[in-house]
Amino acid sequence: MKELVLNNSLVSHKMGILRDKNTPTKEFREIVKELSSQLCYEAFRDAETTDCRIDTPITSTTVKRIDLGQYVFVPILRAGLGMMDGILQAVPTATFGFIGLYRNEETLEPVEYFFKMPPEIEKRKVIVLDPMLATGGSAVNAIDQLKKHGVSQITFLCIVSCPQGIETLKAAHPDVRIFTAALDERLNDRGYIIPGLGDAGDRIFNTL
Ligand code: PRP
Ligand code: URA
Repeated sequence: MKELVLNNSLVSHKMGILRDKNTPTKEFREIVKELSSQLCYEAFRDAETTDCRIDTPITSTTVKRIDLGQYVFVPILRAGLGMMDGILQAVPTATFGFIGLYRNEETLEPVEYFFKMPPEIEKRKVIVLDPMLATGGSAVNAIDQLKKHGVSQITFLCIVSCPQGIETLKAAHPDVRIFTAALDERLNDRGYIIPGLGDAGDRIFNTL
């Protein structure tokens, strides 16, 4: 399955603002929200719909509806929480589950600390949210946990990714759809994406 990079000049313009270290927290949060909403629309581009008859003020017509109740959005704590508002803008009735992970700064391995899903998660389609796909360790771990709980249809949305993270995620979970606003060059020796935007969690939560 191939990753999809948002290919749009306005997205590139907004990415430029996110990358700028002088962008204040308020604007950073607003752009993460906008891009998350955009990623959400992309993720639903080919979603299954059913036809439904309705009356417009003028006539009767057939419209398309998505069964949004089938979907669960799962931000990876902390930074994934920054994407929630954008999802809610696109899907105001969204259901959420949560996975808590942080990277060990020495080993870059993910450390698990929280897992909370709505009932019957195994019957639902899951969309995982994390602004950064760096080594790919956190995304692979989160998806491992979801699959252990029986989830079979998974999409991963991120703002910034890099080739190593994409390859690692695709190798571990070739069935998972990946949508990213930007595909950057590489990782540095501390596991940060280059050029990237720095530590997404710190920039979203103003903890720099
Ligand atoms: C960041 C980011 C991802 C992870 C990506 O989280 O939000 O979860 O790093 O890196 P990886 O692809 O190499 O695993 P971080 O560990 O900084 O935790 P935080 O969200 O709590 O700040
Ligand atoms: N996590 C981040 O927040 N930023 C990176 O560049 C890599 C991992």
